[in-house]
Amino acid sequence: MYIDPKVKKSMKTYSRASQIIPGKTQLASRRASSYASGVSPVYAQSSSGSKFIDIDGNTYLDWKNAYGAIILGHSNPIVNNAVKDQIDQGSLFTINSDLEVKLAEILIENIPSAEMVRYTKGGGEACALAARIARGTTGKDKILFSGYHGWHDWYQAANFLADPVTGGYPVTGVEPIGVPKSLKGSAIPFAHEDISMVKNLLNQHKNEIAAIFVEPMMSQEPDKDYLIQLKNLARQHGCILVFDEVSCGWRISVGGVQEYIGVTPDMTVLAKGISNGYPMGAVVGSIDAMEPANNMFISSSYWSDNIGLIASITTINELISKNSKEKFQQIGESLIKTINQAIKQVGIAAKFEGIYTYPTLEFLIDNKDLAQSVNTLFIQEMSKRGIFTPTSLNATLEHTEKDIEITGLAAAESFEVIMKALEGDIDKYLLADTKKEPFRRIVN
Ligand SMILES: Cc1ncc(COP(=O)(O)O)c(C=O)c1O
Repeated sequence: MYIDPKVKKSMKTYSRASQIIPGKTQLASRRASSYASGVSPVYAQSSSGSKFIDIDGNTYLDWKNAYGAIILGHSNPIVNNAVKDQIDQGSLFTINSDLEVKLAEILIENIPSAEMVRYTKGGGEACALAARIARGTTGKDKILFSGYHGWHDWYQAANFLADPVTGGYPVTGVEPIGVPKSLKGSAIPFAHEDISMVKNLLNQHKNEIAAIFVEPMMSQEPDKDYLIQLKNLARQHGCILVFDEVSCGWRISVGGVQEYIGVTPDMTVLAKGISNGYPMGAVVGSIDAMEPANNMFISSSYWSDNIGLIASITTINELISKNSKEKFQQIGESLIKTINQAIKQVGIAAKFEGIYTYPTLEFLIDNKDLAQSVNTLFIQEMSKRGIFTPTSLNATLEHTEKDIEITGLAAAESFEVIMKALEGDIDKYLLADTKKEPFRRIVN
């Protein structure tokens, strides 16, 4: 396997990790095989603003930003200082901190459908909590869903069924090993924005569906009509509509996709961007949906942790005071324009489009078998030029016009290499192993 001397330390550490950490990394997407393995860095030592430094000492401009969790910018000094002050006052008390009530009030003020709030420390955990509340509130067991909702049993149980689109496992390449077989049929996937599939499933499982879980926005503009129809169906069938805004949430608006599009769910799951890099998750929702949780056992020691609470309060205040909504639109639109200019300039068959908070690069090549190699070559060439990026990009408030310009120049050079590779032998240009998807988001 090829190893660029530039990332020698990263790859050596990764090799050790593969012996002592099952799965190699904690987040599947952080595996070396998700990028240009052997060329992309795997371990970082520090991060600031729009950049990070890897353990070999190389600096990269970052377009992944901790999978969306970094929204203001890496190591934001205002959030970090608030956290440091809080550490000095106590990171976790024996009794409660009133920060949890303060944050709940801020969430209720900013998120249209929020009337009650519970916390967790991460997104998947918050999804599991929402699933528990939905089942408890409705007294029903089955959950319909599209999109990705974490690693917990309630959701991975879907992998006992076939993907309605491909016929394979909904989470490709991941068998439901370790998930109780008795959960088969309890989480049922449907295709993103396929309302007739939802209707059929609701009729097929009459009076059994507790909740409909969706990511209300993925990489495209959300479809308002679809979301309204989902809400009406949820009402008709007495189930709870859950928006998982863990990934799509707050770049589009601090009130979330629901505020942007004007359709409210019964419950919303939040994590990642709400705390700019400190562990935090939340479930917010209507009193009707959440009040029955008073009688459910939902409890964990570190959910009262003050660090996540203060980080969230400070992050939200920063996003609001910095007009983040307009700023993300400006950054995203400028990035889309710049990359498309590079595409045009080089004359490569590609497009860079989608919602401005999460645009995606797609190479338009006839031979679909080459798609993953071409994506890897792009990641490899960008990485060589000091830009850490997958093919879907998200920004932070610290990304500047200069960062975008640098990215555009590197993209143009990378496109030139790809053009040559496609004319000749791509393997001559591809130093890295072809990237692998750690998993596919269940029914995109
Ligand atoms: C929509 C969505 N839900 C849930 C999760 C799981 O969140 P976490 O990785 O914090 O457990 C993710 C993570 O990517 C996500 O994108």
